[in-house]
Amino acid sequence: MQRILITGGLGQVGSYLVDALHEKAKVTVLDNYSSTTREAVPQDVHVIKGDIKDEIAANLVKQSDVVIHTAAQISVTASMENPLFDAQNNIFGTLNLLEAARNSAISKFVYISSAAVYGNTLYTPITESHPQDPLSPYGASKLTGEKYCMMYNKAFGLPSCCIRPFNIYSPRQDPRNPYSGVISRFIEKAKAKQSPVIFGDGTQTRDFISVHDIVDMIVLLIENEDANGHVFNAGTGKSTTVTELASMILNTFDVDIPIQYMPERPGDIKYSCSDISSARKILGFEPKVSLENGLMEFAKCK
Ligand code: UD1
Repeated sequence: MQRILITGGLGQVGSYLVDALHEKAKVTVLDNYSSTTREAVPQDVHVIKGDIKDEIAANLVKQSDVVIHTAAQISVTASMENPLFDAQNNIFGTLNLLEAARNSAISKFVYISSAAVYGNTLYTPITESHPQDPLSPYGASKLTGEKYCMMYNKAFGLPSCCIRPFNIYSPRQDPRNPYSGVISRFIEKAKAKQSPVIFGDGTQTRDFISVHDIVDMIVLLIENEDANGHVFNAGTGKSTTVTELASMILNTFDVDIPIQYMPERPGDIKYSCSDISSARKILGFEPKVSLENGLMEFAKCK
C-alpha cells in the first residue's frame, strides 16, 4: 500500500484529501492544530501533531512514498501583519520538507500554491505563464515555495509538481475566519435571513472551484509522471460575478431579501478566471462540480 503523507491534513483541502485517500492508501496526517481539531478526520487515520519546520516532518517525509503539502500560513491579512511568520512557515517549512524529500525515495511531492501568486489580473483567462506579481507576503511566500519545488525538480530530479487553486469553497470553510471566502460569508447571511453584503458593484468575477475538484486534481497528479516539473492552474475555467453568486445563494436557501452594496474593498482584483488547458491536456482533468451543485452541498449540511 502506498504511504501518503498529508501535511495540514486537518485543514480544508487536507481533510477532504484524507476522506478520498485513506481507504486506498496508508495515510499519515501531520498537522500543528493551528486552526482545526483532531475531529476533522476519521478516528482511524494516523494523525501526528507537529510542525512542518521541525525534524519530525523531515522524518515523516523519509518514511513516505508520496507527500502532499497543504500545510501553510493561509491568511493574507496575517501575512501583511507578520511577513516573517508567514515566510517561516510557507518558505522555510516547505524547504524543510523538500530537503528531506531530496534524500528519500519518494515518487511524488505535490505542493499547494495559490492564485494569489498572480497579483493584479492583466488578462483572463489566466494562463500559468501570466506575470506573477504578488500583492501580499502570502502571495510572495507561496510563489517562493513553488520556485523551490520546481528548482528541486530541475536540480535534483525530485518528482515534484504544484497547483495554483483559484477560489476554493467547501462546507468545511469557517465563515467566522477572516480569511473565509465570499461563498461561506453569503451562506452564513442567507441562513440567518440577512442580506448578503457585496463590496463594490458586484460585477467583479471569480472562478469558484469546489474542494472535491481540487482533490480530484491532486489524485490525478499522484499517478502522473508527466506532471513532474509543472505548475497547474486549479480552477473551473468559468467565471461568475459576485452579484450572480449572491442571487444563486439566495435561491438555493430560498431566501427573499435584497442584496446590500458597500464600497469596494481596497486592493480587490476585478476579474479572475483560470485557463485550465494545461491540466486538461497533461492530467486529463475535468471539473465535475457545477457551482449550483456545490452550493446545494452547503444546503444539505444545514
Ligand atoms: C482570493 C483568496 C485570497 C487570494 C486571492 C488571489 C479566498 C478566501 N481568498 O481572494 O487569499 O489572495 O484570491 O486572487 O479564497 N466579497 C463580497 N462580500 C463579502 C466577501 C467578499 O462582496 O462578504 C467579494 C470581494 O470583495 C471579492 C469577491 O467577493 O470581490 C471574492 O472575495 P473572497 O472570497 O474574499 O476572495 P478573493 O478576494 O478573490
